[in-house]
Amino acid sequence: MIELRSDTFTLPSEEMMDSIKKAVLGDDVYGLDPTVNELEKKSAELLGKADAVLFPSGTMANLASIMAHCPRGTKVLVGDKSDIYIYEAGGATVCGGIIYDPIPTEKNGTLKIKNIETRFPKDPTDPQFALPSLLCIENPSNRTGGRVLPLAYLQELNHYTRMKNIPIHMDGARIFNASVALDISPIEIAMFADSVQFCLSKGLSAPIGSIVAGSSPFIKKVRMIRKMLGGGMRQAGIIAAPGIVALENRNDVLKKDHIKATNLAEKLSLIKEIDVSPNVETNMVFFTLKKEFLIATFISTCEMYGLNIDELEPGVIRAVLHSNVSNEDVEKAAEIIKKAIPFSKREFT
Ligand SMILES: Cc1ncc(COP(=O)(O)O)c(C=O)c1O
Repeated sequence: MIELRSDTFTLPSEEMMDSIKKAVLGDDVYGLDPTVNELEKKSAELLGKADAVLFPSGTMANLASIMAHCPRGTKVLVGDKSDIYIYEAGGATVCGGIIYDPIPTEKNGTLKIKNIETRFPKDPTDPQFALPSLLCIENPSNRTGGRVLPLAYLQELNHYTRMKNIPIHMDGARIFNASVALDISPIEIAMFADSVQFCLSKGLSAPIGSIVAGSSPFIKKVRMIRKMLGGGMRQAGIIAAPGIVALENRNDVLKKDHIKATNLAEKLSLIKEIDVSPNVETNMVFFTLKKEFLIATFISTCEMYGLNIDELEPGVIRAVLHSNVSNEDVEKAAEIIKKAIPFSKREFT
């Protein structure tokens, strides 16, 4: 089966499995797991932040970050297409008494400053209004096609939020895809955010884990919230060890994934029944079928032929390239898609 639904399906490499066996372990709730400590130190350095902390998932990492930034009864400004808003079970409201205020997401994944501005009351002393205390951005933006937020935009946003006196949390689940796409150090991206979350378990292909990086006092607070949420782990070196391998190999792996995505997009653009999004910037290919085709039938026909892909939102199909997909699989995937189209015509249903 060729699995293109998400890069979360990646399985750990042999090198990662070996690293698990050899990992030196301790009790991380006491801060005594040397492998976790090494991963956290490396992660902080990679992003140019003072400190970092390991989480079991991106969802918990984002939640603890939001709770550390936002007092109860305040608003977190989020993109209306962001993972934090759509897929994280409303955790900030449930656990933190924080209100999500969704901002329209533009086609390139950005949130317009003029739209953000509307979320601030004219008179911040008016007791009727909950006040914004944090802006969350997603980079790359998943649901707009893995789009990388432009550096000039991040700079402008950073300047604006400084003026408004609120911090920025970057959901950089795939921040290394962004740094590879822009061919710059991740520090040059992370510098525009006060805190950054990234996932080890997406394209980086480690089995479990996410990191939050930020200032030392912030990470201290986040660590305490992690424990409160049940995310304090004991011999967590067994997940940190493959995380270290993942970080060491990240550029090679992700560059290959981006090339595979471009190749798939090129092949699909030759199929006349398909419209491929022209903006393949990272490891994702988004496409639509012409109106006369039924998406559900198309997806199940692809599955029958050995390819898993997903409809991310009505009519929009996403294919995510990753380390467990070979160049040969890319060829095969394009062939399966071509073969499945005639079976998906509405007249057959
Ligand atoms: C952009 C983004 N942020 C956060 C997450 C959440 O990560 P996790 O699945 O580890 O909770 C995901 C998961 O797919 C994601 O795509």
